[in-house]
Amino acid sequence: MTIDLAPSPASTRASSPVHEDGFGVYVHWPFCRAKCPYCDFNSHVRHGGIDEARFLSAYLAELAYFASLAPARSVASVFFGGGTPSLMQAETVAAILEAIAKHWRLDGNAEITLEANPTSVEAARFAGYRAAGVNRLSLGVQALDDTSLKALGRQHNADEALAALDLAKRHFGRVSFDLIYAREGQTARGWRDELSLALGHAADHLSLYQLTIEPGTPFAARHEAGTLRTPNGAEARAQYLLTQELCEAAGLPAYEVSNHARPGSESRHNLLYWRGHDYAGIGPGAHSRIAVDGVKRALATIKSPEDWRASVEASGHGLASDEALSADEAAEEYLLMGMRLSEGIDLERFAAIGGRGLDEARIASLAEDGLVRRDGSRLAATPKGRLVLDRLIVELARG
Ligand SMILES: C[S@@+](CC[C@H](N)C(=O)[O-])C[C@H]1O[C@@H](n2cnc3c(N)ncnc32)[C@H](O)[C@@H]1O
Ligand code: SF4
Repeated sequence: MTIDLAPSPASTRASSPVHEDGFGVYVHWPFCRAKCPYCDFNSHVRHGGIDEARFLSAYLAELAYFASLAPARSVASVFFGGGTPSLMQAETVAAILEAIAKHWRLDGNAEITLEANPTSVEAARFAGYRAAGVNRLSLGVQALDDTSLKALGRQHNADEALAALDLAKRHFGRVSFDLIYAREGQTARGWRDELSLALGHAADHLSLYQLTIEPGTPFAARHEAGTLRTPNGAEARAQYLLTQELCEAAGLPAYEVSNHARPGSESRHNLLYWRGHDYAGIGPGAHSRIAVDGVKRALATIKSPEDWRASVEASGHGLASDEALSADEAAEEYLLMGMRLSEGIDLERFAAIGGRGLDEARIASLAEDGLVRRDGSRLAATPKGRLVLDRLIVELARG
């Protein structure tokens, strides 16, 4: 779900009064064995292999750069995302975690997640990741039937996915898996059966994404040509509502638009993003939000893996951009991210970040229409509001 908020006219800079509440480190590993036709993440296939030791040196150098930018933080969460981090050697993961613990204070109970693809080759590495310090695994299952997996261009079948899931549950205290629904030819009845099967195998967390047709992907070309037909709006909405109903009944309610967990098992890393806390993003095409001297900065690194590495080798970091957010921009971002959460946003915090509150009359009118719920200083979308979340946020953001 994407949204364009009107550009902010404010020129004042954003202060971030709560940036000490939790700090996350995101490590982007941009390599995959094959490119899935629906995916527009920063992921690349290198048939000739890569020089992993040389990339590791670049990751360690960039970590040192970010540690100098945001010193003395307490790291509550580390997330290895991709791409396919389960292509990393366990020694590479261990070396990065050691460096994080050396530069910052790594909380004793920090959440350390790694995204994995369920092929047998990658699943065989689970013990090594656990020994390296990873304590949460997020598995890209995507579908539980072989025809759909083939249509999604995946390298695994349903049996391999379930075997990898079993193995993950044996190695990690916390396990999540991803599914994509509203796929070509999928009906609400088919999704009910598939999701029920998935819930039978679920540990403490599920990410359930509606298929998005991303511009520039092979799926977008086929969609435009009329050879890829995905469920229409009403059908996709029915599948979304079914998702909420089944997950809630199984004890994994949504805590965010696409994320479901047993209460207490929400991904701390996800929460850190959506609650507007600071994080450092290391590796090609990673994003960061870091408050420096009370000003929230938005940083992004170079997307091409080799160009990023060359930049790190030359100057110690692979930054492509580094901008100070205005107070309005930082507050809009908090609104945009926070309203995705079932818990919503804290209106007092919104005002502290942006220097002005949301329009009370507009909140009252949206509440009257049953789209938002106000509880003291908290504001959240209702189930009805979540169905039109993008428009709701634009409405709230209107100055
Ligand atoms: C960037 S992928 C990384 C995980 C891993 N490489 C994998 O594919 O399993 C993160 C998740 O985004 C989701 N995703 C990627 N592209 C999507 C799209 N176009 N529509 C819906 N979900 C998508 C998939 O569920 C995927 O597991
Ligand atoms: S969906 Fe995952 S495996 Fe497929 S190309 Fe994207 S990042 Fe790579």
